[in-house]
Amino acid sequence: MGELLAGLIDVELQSGSTETLTRQLYDRLRATILTGALPPGHRLPSSRELARQLGVSRNTVSFVVDQLVMEGYLDVAQGRRPTVAAAANAGLAAGRPISRGEPRALRTSRWAERLRKADWPFASEGRPKPLAPAHADARAFPHDIWARCLRRAARHALTGMAAVNRASLQAALLRHLVEHRGVRAEARQIIVMPSAQASIELIARVLLNAGDIAWLESPGYGGARAALEAAGAAVRGVALDRSGLAFKGRRDQPRLIFVTPSHQHPTGRLMPVHRRQELLTLADEVGAAIIEDDYDSEFHYDGRPVAALQGLDDTGRVFYVGTFSKSTFADIRSGYAIVPPNLVDVFETAQRHSGQIVPAPMQDALAEFIDDGHFAAHIRKMTRIYRARRDRLVQALGAAAGDHLRIEPPAGGMQLLAHLDPHHDDRDVSARLAEAGVTARPLSRHFTGAITGQGLFLGFAAWNEQEIDTAAAVIGRVLRELAVSSGARKRRRKA
Ligand SMILES: Cc1ncc(COP(=O)(O)O)c(C=O)c1O
Repeated sequence: MGELLAGLIDVELQSGSTETLTRQLYDRLRATILTGALPPGHRLPSSRELARQLGVSRNTVSFVVDQLVMEGYLDVAQGRRPTVAAAANAGLAAGRPISRGEPRALRTSRWAERLRKADWPFASEGRPKPLAPAHADARAFPHDIWARCLRRAARHALTGMAAVNRASLQAALLRHLVEHRGVRAEARQIIVMPSAQASIELIARVLLNAGDIAWLESPGYGGARAALEAAGAAVRGVALDRSGLAFKGRRDQPRLIFVTPSHQHPTGRLMPVHRRQELLTLADEVGAAIIEDDYDSEFHYDGRPVAALQGLDDTGRVFYVGTFSKSTFADIRSGYAIVPPNLVDVFETAQRHSGQIVPAPMQDALAEFIDDGHFAAHIRKMTRIYRARRDRLVQALGAAAGDHLRIEPPAGGMQLLAHLDPHHDDRDVSARLAEAGVTARPLSRHFTGAITGQGLFLGFAAWNEQEIDTAAAVIGRVLRELAVSSGARKRRRKA
């Protein structure tokens, strides 16, 4: 018994500790078994003896022993003292102590390998800095009103199994989308998702098999490329012209076409109605579905916004995707999609399978926020603010870097594209700007296939006038420095 306890007596319990004696004894005994200090088959002293040695009550010891027996660390045969179970440290039996040494690294999937690449969409840019695109100004959101909506929604007792998609939000959203975006649907066709990204992922998974061709605008939205590839699609980049997706003359037949017709991402171009009709006709001919990502269409500055493509579709092939993360604030983590009536059931099941369900109180709070007019009022207010910021950025960039950039001012949205001369490497420019405290996404990252342009993708929505002016001045300075050093390199080569 003596030598056995010697192994155990490292088990020194501290009476003044914040951890109970039971917890301490349990942790130490379990560790002693796992590290092999008590090998399989070793017999423990009786609980009375253990209690005496450790200076704790017999109840404490019995409780801990019972627990370790239940978890499989100890065995007890009728009327005998507990022994360390053989399987408790199978690794040890194989000469491989469980809790010692360097653990072998886990292999991750090819998908995860892609996620690790620094320029893959959603690779962290760290804390957002001016002029990070795709950010709404959360500072201007009516947080007090929102808190009231959330509080009221949280108080509603929910009975039974809540619907995945709450009727209150479906009805409120439908009214909003019919009035402002011209969509045509029944409320039950709206699925509520944690984000636009989640909707794109789910739609891709419901529609695509491995190897199916999916068309994506090039340059286009990297998040869509990631989602389509994750669903196994063969993603093909389709070049743009002034009217957006330029697909005439292509021979490959897509199953799915992803477009951002309101404000093309990243050029900001608007797809006019003639191209929309051609796209619908083509999709009908080849039997393709269309994802219309209407991510920031709420904010439109020049002329009237063009109604959604979904409202033009008579064939039930357009999946309309929207998000609250641009129209309210990013962390709200709620978005929605309109799916064709005959697929509502499979989408609801897919939502349950993938766990893509927005909490019911959140859905009810959003419904109230929309129904009481706060959502529309916030959009009106932010449209004024964002329009002024767009104008400010266009003007500040023109003044600070007009010789180096060709700006494509968008009619709406939250960001703009500034084209660089082709001799620039936009990744290099972007890296220099990051060092100087300015976020500017390189355009080249947005191509699928051939890279046919260099530019900077810049957000104006989340940044005030001072931040915009300062960032524009930094962009001007960095581009001038780069021009000087590339001029010097050329002169050296000539000499
Ligand atoms: C074109 C486009 N679609 C969708 C999203 C994603 O929206 P969410 O945050 O709801 O996933 C973004 C965000 O940057 C975007 O730029």
